[in-house]
Amino acid sequence: MFYHTSTNDHNLPHDPFKACVAPRPIGWISTISAAGITNIAPYSFFNGVASSPPQVMYSTNGTQPHGPKDTLTNIRQGGEFVVNVATWDLREAMNITSQPARPDEDEFILAGLTPEPSQLVKPPRIGQSPINMECTLVDIIDLATNNPDQPNTMVIGLVVGIHIDEAVLTDGMIDNTKLKLISRLGYKDYACVESVFSMVRPGDGDKLAGN
Ligand SMILES: Cc1cc2nc3c(=O)[nH]c(=O)nc-3n(C[C@H](O)[C@H](O)[C@H](O)COP(=O)(O)O)c2cc1C
Repeated sequence: MFYHTSTNDHNLPHDPFKACVAPRPIGWISTISAAGITNIAPYSFFNGVASSPPQVMYSTNGTQPHGPKDTLTNIRQGGEFVVNVATWDLREAMNITSQPARPDEDEFILAGLTPEPSQLVKPPRIGQSPINMECTLVDIIDLATNNPDQPNTMVIGLVVGIHIDEAVLTDGMIDNTKLKLISRLGYKDYACVESVFSMVRPGDGDKLAGN
């Protein structure tokens, strides 16, 4: 089959686009408002985009009943955020933080999560999450939208510090079978990373790093 995205003439019960770009890692982002209220929300239009220096992006789509999404408002105001890794054990808490809470609601309290101080940025990290990346704002870019009232916006951050719980390491490497991170598929579906396989790039020999 083929369909045009301009008319969505796929004749399927649901738009398949997000299932075509899957699995998407979940950037579980903690921020703090100018008034000092902490906020958490998951974003699956999220990824690492460079490693030297490490940079991440996420994209925010549409608005809340009360206006722009709080994560974007807080990053615009404070210029800082923390990306926390969402894991199998934290799936329900992650989901709770996706609700359209008002800006004056503290989502650490709402989801029963522990705010741990960050080292280099003001927003706290999620204590229960085994990996937290402290980020400073690099750029905010307007993306195309079909409805100017529902903007699409990409945020790029510089990762200035990373916390790793040593319980997820084996031989000094992050062990995905211990981490059990979750990612977003299409529709209401998620995947949990439980098995891993390795391949060596041609010419790389014993070198471990690579894209
Ligand atoms: C797994 C998951 C992934 C999500 N990914 C996105 C995303 O990429 N972009 C987006 O705008 N909203 C996304 N959402 C919805 C936001 O989390 C939701 O709108 C949230 O209330 C935003 O909170 P905030 O206003 O505190 O930023 C996602 C929700 C879930 C459960």
